[in-house]
Amino acid sequence: MSNLYPNLFQPITIGGRTLKNRIMSAPNMLFQVVDGRPTDYYVGYLEHKAKGGAAIVNLGEVPVIRGGNHTPFIELIPENLNIFGEIADAIKEHGAMASIELTHCGRKGRPWINKQLKGPNREITENGIFCEAMTEQDMEEVITAYADAAEYAVTAGFDMALIHAGHSWLLEQFLSPLVNKRTDEYGGSLENRMRFPLRVLKAIRDRVGNKIIIAARISGSERAEGGFTPADMAEFLNRAEEYLDMAEVSTEDWNYCMPSTYIPWASNREFVREIKQSGKVKFPLYLVGSIVSPELAEEIIASGDADGISFSRALIADPAMPNKARAGRIDEITPCLRCMRCTDGDNKTRFFRCSVNPTTGHETRVGFMEDIPEAKIKKNVLVIGGGPGGVEAAVTAAKRGHTVTLMEKNEELGGTIRYAKDDALKPDLKRYLKYIQKLPYLYPNITVKLGTEATPELVASFKADHIIVATGGEPIAPTFIEGWEKARDILDAYFHPESVGEEVVIIGGGLSGVEAAAHLGALGKKATVLEKYTCLSDVGTSYGWGVKLAVNQYGVKLVEQADVLEITDEGVRYAMGGREILKKADSVFYAIGMRSNNKLFYEIADKAPFVDIIGDAAQTARIGEAVVGGYYAALDIGAF
Ligand SMILES: Cc1cc2nc3c(=O)[nH]c(=O)nc-3n(C[C@H](O)[C@H](O)[C@H](O)COP(=O)(O)O)c2cc1C
Repeated sequence: MSNLYPNLFQPITIGGRTLKNRIMSAPNMLFQVVDGRPTDYYVGYLEHKAKGGAAIVNLGEVPVIRGGNHTPFIELIPENLNIFGEIADAIKEHGAMASIELTHCGRKGRPWINKQLKGPNREITENGIFCEAMTEQDMEEVITAYADAAEYAVTAGFDMALIHAGHSWLLEQFLSPLVNKRTDEYGGSLENRMRFPLRVLKAIRDRVGNKIIIAARISGSERAEGGFTPADMAEFLNRAEEYLDMAEVSTEDWNYCMPSTYIPWASNREFVREIKQSGKVKFPLYLVGSIVSPELAEEIIASGDADGISFSRALIADPAMPNKARAGRIDEITPCLRCMRCTDGDNKTRFFRCSVNPTTGHETRVGFMEDIPEAKIKKNVLVIGGGPGGVEAAVTAAKRGHTVTLMEKNEELGGTIRYAKDDALKPDLKRYLKYIQKLPYLYPNITVKLGTEATPELVASFKADHIIVATGGEPIAPTFIEGWEKARDILDAYFHPESVGEEVVIIGGGLSGVEAAAHLGALGKKATVLEKYTCLSDVGTSYGWGVKLAVNQYGVKLVEQADVLEITDEGVRYAMGGREILKKADSVFYAIGMRSNNKLFYEIADKAPFVDIIGDAAQTARIGEAVVGGYYAALDIGAF
């Protein structure tokens, strides 16, 4: 077997510990806690990252002191060591280094968690909380807390402490010329702004010596006029040389911290490159941020821009990515969509989910995705519909040893997401589409039948033991609008770009309408979205930021509270604020929702001993629900 990624899988020695490859699983705070304690699911999640082959697995932000927490997570203090020890063991048992990220939120607390904040300045923060300026004594207390926490990390069995000095948390608040308004020796010049963070790092090194790898996570740039630059960060790391064994380079600005699909891949690369090229930093530098594949990671390391890669969402989508890459099983790596489902759900619901990995957040209950058990009874399974849910069902059933036919009426797999092929702005969905289009062909026990419409007669002739109906959904037409026949379903805009005029109106400002408008804007069209209520009300916070960036970049006009009355040959007539307005348009599309395509299910419900319905066919939703439906339906085949 040849190693496709020689640089990515080259060992590296950091702080006296030898790592098997250059892959780090980035810190993820999951909010999966009960009374501040991580649930078993959280532990299982981290364990599976180690099992999947990453050399370092990070536990996300752990506060070093009460008052420094911005999440409900417990502090790294002696009473909690057994829990942290369990996490370290779960990671180390699979041959990875266990790392814990130590943090203090400073001025950036959350009203429901922090009552009294302390940070560089006395101020009312943007979250509306009063923040007191830290005194020398406060600083001493925090410095000691960091050193204590590092010592507890050693006791709990961690191999590495990742000190969070980025992402607007306390240490960065001191480093930032935009945030830090102090006039004493901790504010003003870079020399002064570095003083407190350097004291923290020194205290950690003084306390734990070389018993643990000491790493810093930094923002390589503040990405703002007058903010700190990569050159400043190179200077900071240079000054921290004795205290650090490595650093991981991220960025400031949430849009780029956790970049959605609307931000370019490897978007922090220029910062790590500049820091490296400064020649001021001798220890290894890892890069984090939208490094979506082992190929990209390999190329970055080969170019000399970074020594290692920290992956977050790529390993949520597929924790086994490192081992699959090592084994050359590239077509089996599930790509991340950068759809932000992992972050947009967790704060509110504490449910941690991934659109493309149906086991994320359930690892302890359902096991490692790659260890799917063989079915007790092998069945003849027919899956109807080759979208994300159908493919997931077919592949999972095949992994369990069933004989599977995957039937798709179109000439290609992909279902609704086939539009991604033509989308100007979604490279990640495009990768995912290619992935599901190839995946079933890797399994000799799957027969793919394209261009085959499932009729009740054809289905009956298969004499299947188990049928999974994944026929998806179909767009709802706005038949309540006069002249609606003059408009087309939004997918037509992707599939037939040649038929789209210059001035485009899209009726419906949910995610699909607005994203389509951005796509058309990127193709040079003038796109307007008319929405009866509020645009993007079906979108999570951080993904919404990305979509809004694209909306602004491509000049999309979002019109809210617009009640569409009629579609005419000239355009769209709508009422707003008691006025009637005609928006001229060459092409009009609608994106007002989908309905389940469940007719076939009713027709064939008696054509096999077991018939299931999943995904949009059962209830219209997103890719994540379809994938979950397909996976678990297939897991349940073969017990009876
Ligand atoms: C679910 C989730 C939780 C995260 N939690 C943390 C955290 O606890 N600490 C931290 O520094 N960054 C956290 N991040 C940011 C990631 O570590 C990483 O910097 C970011 O996702 C960009 O990397 P990626 O493009 O590979 O996902 C989190 C990201 C996600 C998606």
